[in-house]
Amino acid sequence: MGVLHKLESFVKAGAAGDDEFRAAVLSGLARHPKTLEPKFFYDERGSQLFDAITELEEYYPTRAETAALESHAAEIAAFVGRGASLVEFGSGSSVKTRLLLENLAGLRCYVPIDISGAHLQAAAERLAADYALPVIPVHADYTGAFALPDVVPAAGRLGFFPGSTIGNFDPPAAVAFLRRARDLLGPGARFLVGADLQKDAARLVAAYDDAQGVTAAFNLNLLRRINRELAGDFDLAAFRHEARYDPELGRIEMHLVSRAAQQVTIAGHSFSFAAGESIHTENSYKYTLESFADLARQGGWRSEAQWLDPEGLFSLHGLVAD
Ligand code: AVJ
Repeated sequence: MGVLHKLESFVKAGAAGDDEFRAAVLSGLARHPKTLEPKFFYDERGSQLFDAITELEEYYPTRAETAALESHAAEIAAFVGRGASLVEFGSGSSVKTRLLLENLAGLRCYVPIDISGAHLQAAAERLAADYALPVIPVHADYTGAFALPDVVPAAGRLGFFPGSTIGNFDPPAAVAFLRRARDLLGPGARFLVGADLQKDAARLVAAYDDAQGVTAAFNLNLLRRINRELAGDFDLAAFRHEARYDPELGRIEMHLVSRAAQQVTIAGHSFSFAAGESIHTENSYKYTLESFADLARQGGWRSEAQWLDPEGLFSLHGLVAD
């Protein structure tokens, strides 16, 4: 049994509150084109729907990244070395975190960082129960600035940012994130980052527009959340989910497209939609091995190794702080 440090003692000011959601929605929908940030997908139902996405036949990234971690476990462990402190961006209750915890030698502690306190607490409890390791949860929004508690050893920090979540950032924001992560993790740090690879558009679009409509429900749930938390009156049936691939930018875009001209009221503010007008809710950038290594370089990291799943769909980069 590991030691679970108290979540409360590490609550950071960076965690998003209701006010941040309200301000972001009101300003995002006042913009042209209308946009909402994907970090708001993850209320309780949204997190459940995302878990369901990862099980879909069409959604290959989770399986492919897990296969990359499994098939290259020994090389990854050699890259990391002994006695690292594992700092995960996002709270991992998942198979991927467990693979690392089991394969890395002499880990000092596990530090999950998450914006959702409830998610973080649950994941931290499960992992502390299963591994003989101090678990130090940090409640923070890792898209902003925050610090790690002093109990995390300063030397030998290993960042872990799986899932191609870095793909939610546009390239300048991804570079800024990588720079902040380098400062947070400190000199001599290493960073394992999952980056989905560019591939044919049909395969990519299918992964974000599955036959069962789970991704559509995930996208539309954002409107449900606005209705519930911000006194909105979105008619979910009046919007449809759309996934598009832009090969020039190398990104999947998710949109919620208004089926008709309509007015929506949120927290007393009125917004008009033209027929066919969309809310852009997510970007998911896809890279080549070279384009991601280049991005990492701009963020202050050198991509020392890359590991792929056997099908070559997804990449894991082993980065070293420059
Ligand atoms: C959690 C950001 C990695 O971009 O693939 C999955 C989110 N959105 N299906 C991704 C997502 C629709 C996912 N990330």
